[in-house]
Amino acid sequence: MLIGVDIGTSAVKIVLVDDGETVVADAELPLRPTHPAPLWSEDDPDTWWQAFCDGLDKLAADAPKAMAAVRAIGLSGQMHTLVALDAADRPVRPAILWNDGRSRAEAAELAALGLDLQRRTGVLPMPGLTAPKVLWMARHEPDTFQRTRTIMLAKDYVRLRLSGERATDVSDAAGTWLLDQARRTWCDEAVAACGARPDMLPRLVESPEPCGMLSPELAARWGLPRGVVISGGAGDVAAGGIGVGAVDPGDAFISIGTSSQIFVADDAHRPQPELLVHAFCHALPARWFRMAALLNGASPLAAAAQWTGGASVATLLAEVEAAYAGPSKLLALPYLSGERTPHNDPLARGAIVGLTRDTSRADVVQAIAESVAFSLVDGLDVLGGGGGSAPTRLALIGGGARSAFWARLIASVLGVQLVRYASSERGPAFGAVRLARLASGGEDPASVVVKPAIADVIDPDLALHDAYRPRVEAFRTLYRSLKPVWPSVSL
Ligand code: XUL
Repeated sequence: MLIGVDIGTSAVKIVLVDDGETVVADAELPLRPTHPAPLWSEDDPDTWWQAFCDGLDKLAADAPKAMAAVRAIGLSGQMHTLVALDAADRPVRPAILWNDGRSRAEAAELAALGLDLQRRTGVLPMPGLTAPKVLWMARHEPDTFQRTRTIMLAKDYVRLRLSGERATDVSDAAGTWLLDQARRTWCDEAVAACGARPDMLPRLVESPEPCGMLSPELAARWGLPRGVVISGGAGDVAAGGIGVGAVDPGDAFISIGTSSQIFVADDAHRPQPELLVHAFCHALPARWFRMAALLNGASPLAAAAQWTGGASVATLLAEVEAAYAGPSKLLALPYLSGERTPHNDPLARGAIVGLTRDTSRADVVQAIAESVAFSLVDGLDVLGGGGGSAPTRLALIGGGARSAFWARLIASVLGVQLVRYASSERGPAFGAVRLARLASGGEDPASVVVKPAIADVIDPDLALHDAYRPRVEAFRTLYRSLKPVWPSVSL
C-alpha cells in the first residue's frame, strides 16, 4: 500500500493505492487561496497541513486495514510557490503562489542578468517563479525577510511537518529559478542575485529517493506502521508525467487542470529561455522536460460556470456540443490569471468580443472553450520554435480531459492526435504514488513508470483545423490589441 498526495491550488488530493495501482480510498479537501491585492495570490501553509491531516484522518477511518500496510508516502504539489520559514520553522508570512504577479520589477531585474543564467536556470525569470518573489520580499518586506531562515516549496512544508526533514526534489526545485538544471544542484549565482543565501535552501534529492521518515506520533494517529518512508516527490507537472509514464525523449502530454501545460520529456537539458519555454529537471535521474506553461486551463470554464448561475462545466459543454456548428462568431481570451508562455504578462485578463443581443450562454462558453485551445496552439508553436520539433501525438490528462467534445475540439484546433488514458484523471497524486513505490525500494523505474492503458485516441478533424486557422490569428490580434488596456483593468 502506498499514499500519494497532491498539494494543489484549489484542493489537497490524497490517494491510497494498492500494489496493483488500484485506488483503495481517497480524499479531496478544498483550499481557498486569497487575493489581498491586485495580482496577489496567497495561501497559508498551515491550511495545507490541516487539509492533509483531515484527509489522512478520513483514510484512517475509511480503510484502517490498508493504512496498516502502507510502505511509503509520495508528495507532489503546486510549483514555484514561496514558503518562507523562521528559525522555529513557522511561516513568516502567507505563501506566495505560482499565479501571483506582484514581482514584475524583480523578474525584469533578474532577466537583465542575461541569457546565460537563464539557460542554466532553465527559463526566463517571470513573476510567479520563486526567485523574483524572494527578491520582492527582500525589497518590500525587509523585516519579514530578515526573520526568514528557510525557503521551501508547498509540498515540502508538508514533508517538514511529517518528518522534520528540510528538503526538496530536483523537479520542484526546477521551478524556483534557483537550480542549475543541467547539474541538478542549486545555482549560487541565481541565489545571490535574489538576495538569498545558500543556507536558506533545503537539501536537494532526486524524486524517487527516500527523503524523510514519518514521525512515530503521526504514524500512531493514522494507524500507519512504523518506518513509513517519504519519497523525494515531485512538482505537480513532473509528477503528472510520472503518473502517465511520460519519461522518454519525445513522450508528450497536455495537462488541463486549473492551469495547463504542454510537456515533452527529454534525455538532456535543452533550454530555450528566449522562447519562454521552461526546460526543467524531470522526476527521474538523467531526465529533463520542456514545457509551455499556461496559467489558464479549465479555470476559465469553471469561472464561466459561476458567471452563468451555477450549471456545471459538463452541462455547459453539453449545451455547446448540442448547438455546435463550427468556429464561434465570438472571440475570447482566457487569461484570467495573466499568462506565462508565450506572453510573460501577469496583467493580461479574460475578454469576450463580438457579443450581440442574440448571444446565448452556449455561444459564450464555446468561445471560452475555443480560447483555451487557441492558447494551447501558442504553446505548441513555442515548443516547435527555434529548431525544436513540436509533438504531433500527445496524451491529454487532468480534469480537462474528461469531456470528449472539448478533447475533439482541442485536437482539431491544434491539428494533433490526442490519446486519453483509462486513468487520465488521476493526476499528480498518482505520479507521487509511483515515486513512493520507488522510494520504498528495490524496483526498476522502467517497470514502475509505465504508460496506462489507452481509453481512446482522438484524431483531429482537418477541415475543422483549417476553419480554425484564421480564428487563431484573430485571437492573437485580439491579445495584441488589448495589451495597452491591461494596466487599467488589472492594477
Ligand atoms: C507550472 C505551474 C502550475 C503550478 C500549479 O509551471 O505554474 O502548473 O505547478 O499547479
